[in-house]
Amino acid sequence: MQQIQSALTPVFDLAVRLFHWLQVLLLGGLWYSAEQEWYGIHQLLAYTLASLLGARLIWGLIGSDTARFRHFVPGFRQLRHYLATKTPAVGHNPLSALMILALILLVALQFFSGLMTTDEVMTEGPLYSLVPDWLSSLAGSWHELGFNLLLGLVALHVLAAVLHQWRGDRVISAMWHGRKVLPANTPAPQLLNSFKYLLLALILFCGLMGWQGSALWPQVLTDLQTIGVL
Ligand code: HEM
Ligand code: HEM
Repeated sequence: MQQIQSALTPVFDLAVRLFHWLQVLLLGGLWYSAEQEWYGIHQLLAYTLASLLGARLIWGLIGSDTARFRHFVPGFRQLRHYLATKTPAVGHNPLSALMILALILLVALQFFSGLMTTDEVMTEGPLYSLVPDWLSSLAGSWHELGFNLLLGLVALHVLAAVLHQWRGDRVISAMWHGRKVLPANTPAPQLLNSFKYLLLALILFCGLMGWQGSALWPQVLTDLQTIGVL
């Protein structure tokens, strides 16, 4: 933590904001590509999201103050204090932190279940034939059910964010431009350069492409031909 602040202060780094809004776009693309049965594109989007998420988890250990899990994941006492006082938080508030953890968990489960799923026509996740039948069938059911659960939690998450924004907390604006008005004398969080986050995401993406790229790119090309882009 640095100086004393009272005006519009940077609280969220580029990594957190980029991860958040790219995740929203990618989840939309994942849903749409599954609806259209473009499973090559579906997998490519999933590997991109997994790289951003994996890098965000590491950033949660080594990143800026407000990106770190130990900064925003509340203990029981902090949660009770927040519920009793509703003191504005510098970064994520303790209640939305719980929702954030649930959303991250569901997105991760969606990714891992996808790896074990098949459409029973052309596409098999790379772990499908490696795991026992009961596990791939469980993963297949979860892949559909888990997404609906995710949509339900996202609806709550957005509703809460809109309510906070409307009441003047301006959390959506903060998630967009990164700045918040903090009460006078509140120490500003230390924000790091997000280049390392992007580098981590790129390394993870290259790793995933090294693992699955040769199987994936022909499927992506077929999808692009089906769509008429190529
Ligand atoms: C697919 C949909 C969404 C998912 C999975 C999602 C997930 C998340 C996650 C994981 C975070 C924590 C970000 C981090 O620390 O890296 C977050 C924060 C946040 N999200 Fe979303 N989000 C979604 C859509 C939205 C939308 C549409 C809005 C606004 C209209 C929104 C508003 C916010 C706000 C305001 C925060 C910060 C909350 C706080 O500071 O307490 N989210 N979201
Ligand atoms: C976070 C990442 C992912 C999301 C949000 C996601 C989302 C979805 C959704 C919404 C469906 C349609 C479910 C239904 O109504 O049947 C679907 C189907 C499918 N997904 Fe994913 N998926 C993800 C990752 C993956 C991955 C990594 C793979 C494989 C490598 C994969 C392979 C498939 C397959 C094969 C289907 C068709 C399943 C069927 O026909 O029953 N998905 N996915």
